[in-house]
Amino acid sequence: MSLVVLTSASGSPGVTTTALGLTLTWHRPCLLVEADPTGGSAVAAGYLRGSVLPPEAMIELALAQQDGRQLLDALAQFTLELPGSDKRLVPGTRSHEQARSLVGLWEPLAAALRSLAETGQDVVVDAGRLGLFGSPEPLIEAADLALLVIRTDLVALSAARSWAETLRERFERAGAASSLGVLLVGEGEPFGAREVSRVLSLPVVATVAWDTENAAVLSHGSRPPRPGSWQRLAGRPGWEDSPLLRSIRAAASAITGTIRAATARLDSAHGGRR
Ligand SMILES: Nc1ncnc2c1ncn2[C@@H]1O[C@H](COP(=O)(O)OP(=O)(O)OP(=O)(O)O)[C@@H](O)[C@H]1O
Ligand SMILES: [Mg+2]
Repeated sequence: MSLVVLTSASGSPGVTTTALGLTLTWHRPCLLVEADPTGGSAVAAGYLRGSVLPPEAMIELALAQQDGRQLLDALAQFTLELPGSDKRLVPGTRSHEQARSLVGLWEPLAAALRSLAETGQDVVVDAGRLGLFGSPEPLIEAADLALLVIRTDLVALSAARSWAETLRERFERAGAASSLGVLLVGEGEPFGAREVSRVLSLPVVATVAWDTENAAVLSHGSRPPRPGSWQRLAGRPGWEDSPLLRSIRAAASAITGTIRAATARLDSAHGGRR
């Protein structure tokens, strides 16, 4: 019952890879929404290797919303199944030029996704990079947990600093400071969670391992590496047991735990939701 939104400040720290990994390993049915206004469905082209022609889901949703139709019906109609799972995908727009048409969609979509989340369908949103024209800011602000995804080198930290401050102020103003945190990709390369948290004044909610080979399975549809001999002896497929997947599963638990704690705090502070 959660709406989790991942975004970044700069570079390409792994928002799409992590959002897809979280969706695929999520313990319940889960919908991945590609709301990055950059254009092009990274999941359809990468993980699905261009095997399906994605529907123009975002444009269909924007049209449905303008016509006063139910966004939830349109959502059910224009999602793709992620093969071999009970997970679904709302593919991103085909072109950045469509971003203008989506500006009015984000707020009603946030409400529709929240109502999905309340009926036991969890939602993970790839919100892309902050500050782009057409950025889905209303989705970020409606999240049960919004995560700023960053790598841990000095360049990444320095670029994330001002956005961390902006987001912190917005969430504090909305009385939802506990719905904002950081997800680190490649902790200890070189900085650790404690240092990052101190620099950005935000809690590090989860960390994802640095694992290039397995990340490429999610980001580019590469074949999973063969299991090592000890994994074969233990009867474990290499991919499921990879550092990346193990860390993403741990991240999913940390996210769920954080949302549970934040919801309890918000409920007691406001006597209900934001
Ligand atoms: N945990 C990881 N370990 C190693 N490499 C990773 C990891 N996560 C992502 N990558 C790699 O980093 C690159 C960028 O990843 P991804 O496309 O997910 O980033 P992004 O933040 O969504 O970028 P963009 O802002 O351009 O959409 C890809 O080549 C991907 O394989
Ligand atoms: Mg991306």
